[in-house]
Amino acid sequence: MADMTTDVLIIGTGPAGSATAALLSTYGIENMAINRYRWLANTPRAHITNQRTMEVLRDLGRDVEDEAYMHAAGQDLMGENVFCESLAGEEIGRMKSWGTHPLSKAEHLLSSPTFMNDLPQTFMEPLLFKTACSRGTQARMSTEYLSHVQDAEGVTTTCLDRLSGKEFTIRSKYLVGADGGNSLVASNEGLEISGAMGVGGSMNILFKADLSKYVAHRPSVLYWVMQPGADVGGIGMGLVRMVRPWNEWLIVWGYDINEPAPEVDEKMATDVARQLVGDPELEIELISANTWTVNNAYAEKMSSGRVFIMGDAAHRHPPSNGLGSNTSIQDSFNLAWKLAAVLKGEAGERLLESYNTERAPVAKQIVTRANQSIAEFGPIFEALGMTGGTDVEKIKANMDARCDTTAAAEEQRAALRDAIAFKKYEFDAHGVEMNQRYKSDAIVTDGQMEPDFALDADLHYQPTTWPGARIPHAWLFDAEGGKHSTLDITGGGSFTLLTGLGGEAWVEAAAKVSAALGITLKAHVIGPRQTYVDHVGDWARAREIGDSGCILVRPDQHVCWRQEALADNPEAELTRVMSQILAK
Ligand code: FDA
Repeated sequence: MADMTTDVLIIGTGPAGSATAALLSTYGIENMAINRYRWLANTPRAHITNQRTMEVLRDLGRDVEDEAYMHAAGQDLMGENVFCESLAGEEIGRMKSWGTHPLSKAEHLLSSPTFMNDLPQTFMEPLLFKTACSRGTQARMSTEYLSHVQDAEGVTTTCLDRLSGKEFTIRSKYLVGADGGNSLVASNEGLEISGAMGVGGSMNILFKADLSKYVAHRPSVLYWVMQPGADVGGIGMGLVRMVRPWNEWLIVWGYDINEPAPEVDEKMATDVARQLVGDPELEIELISANTWTVNNAYAEKMSSGRVFIMGDAAHRHPPSNGLGSNTSIQDSFNLAWKLAAVLKGEAGERLLESYNTERAPVAKQIVTRANQSIAEFGPIFEALGMTGGTDVEKIKANMDARCDTTAAAEEQRAALRDAIAFKKYEFDAHGVEMNQRYKSDAIVTDGQMEPDFALDADLHYQPTTWPGARIPHAWLFDAEGGKHSTLDITGGGSFTLLTGLGGEAWVEAAAKVSAALGITLKAHVIGPRQTYVDHVGDWARAREIGDSGCILVRPDQHVCWRQEALADNPEAELTRVMSQILAK
């Protein structure tokens, strides 16, 4: 007999665990979240928050989305990605990043009702955790997961109460391992991790200092410092990262992974800060310093029976592209509604297998992308002549050479320009953030071909209603002057059917199928004199079906089926599709 019970036990209250808890509680599912520490992240860690993640927060509620913006540094403060010798020293190049280039900004505005922003983990985690606890999550801090055993009916997990030193057990129907990059849940469950851990060494130095005079005229989240040794270990280059504009900072500096990790004391931290800022007199208020390793590893399988892993437990990679907490939160958005549907008896257990089918490819993709981004700093070093040794004088001469009037110098300048511009694959990769398309039994394509990407799929988001893709965003209007994204009238924990004039029979069918299957299936007719009107025509252009057709959207806002026009028997069609998706 276990000491306590819950439906879903979540190990970890990082972005993945807290988001899962918040979503499950919002869906009315009993859950418990434990954390081995007494509180949440104590350093800012992840920060770049992309539009897809903001859509998850928006789905949790406008209050949650608004609070994120309130704590975040807005997009207008993020974009001047600077490459320099030091903050006080010469600027080598710059590129517009994170959707702030006018062309990229247009794509962002057209893609989502939300905005990219910089929200340090020390704000994101409490927001998600508070949302979870206030909506029903039972949270136990200072509680360490030790082991688990699963059987046909559930999972029994042994934990250590770190305050009393006593072990106890929790019985749950499902177990979620959101326990970070050293996941004990993953290893205890035997979920294999491919790739390599510890491929580079890095140190984080968190400090306070007013650096406005070096940065306020070129506002950015990231200032990349190119000095001899900057390409050793770490994330490809020395980094001064804004935590709070412009008086709290995190320096990331690499070390040789083949050597022991350095002891980062106050003196070393101050020296590194002075070196990267380029001010030998700089006084810093050191908050903390630690070392960490760059990983290049992902789980081949993200679930096994009743046990699921998510976040860093499943994908372990450097912070490049800012994908860490974003992907973690998006994992939770994929899994939470499925657990809720199964626990409410609306779906068969087989639905849960689609979590692994849909998210494991994303884990591999983002780990590969983030590590590739480190390698793509190489051409910048090459263009500046910073590779091939540690002879500081020679490096300086190579860098100076680009200021000559010779043909070789012109070539060098062109190579540098190209190398910096190429970094858009790290700093402006909207497609990596938004193009995730799922293929699984929880998606019914009825043989429709996946549309090719017209533009580079890493750089540009391509909207489509092809089943598996996220529903495209378009603004719709109501009679009271309200404005609603297509993402606002979908999601919210239930399936939604969208149709147009002539598709009213779909709405009637949806009501019947809801009743017959015991599920919530919302339905909206979009058109003139309807609740939602497509005044601008953006939805008609985006939907890729006729007025009388329909698009079926899952609770995680991914399209799971579409039909070009009204079917002969809408109820039979919807029953067929919903039964397959819900594994009934
Ligand atoms: P996360 O590691 O955040 O949370 C794991 C949770 O599990 C914690 O609550 C932990 O206490 C708990 N836990 C672990 N073992 C447990 C056990 N046995 N029992 C109970 N609880 C347990 N990313 C980025 O995009 N930009 C960045 O700059 C950085 N920088 C950075 C610095 C450092 C020092 C770290 C450690 C990580 C980063 N990251 C980062 C990565 C980013 O923080 C990461 O991707 C997300 O936090 C992942 O969220 P998760 O919720 O998956 O794990």
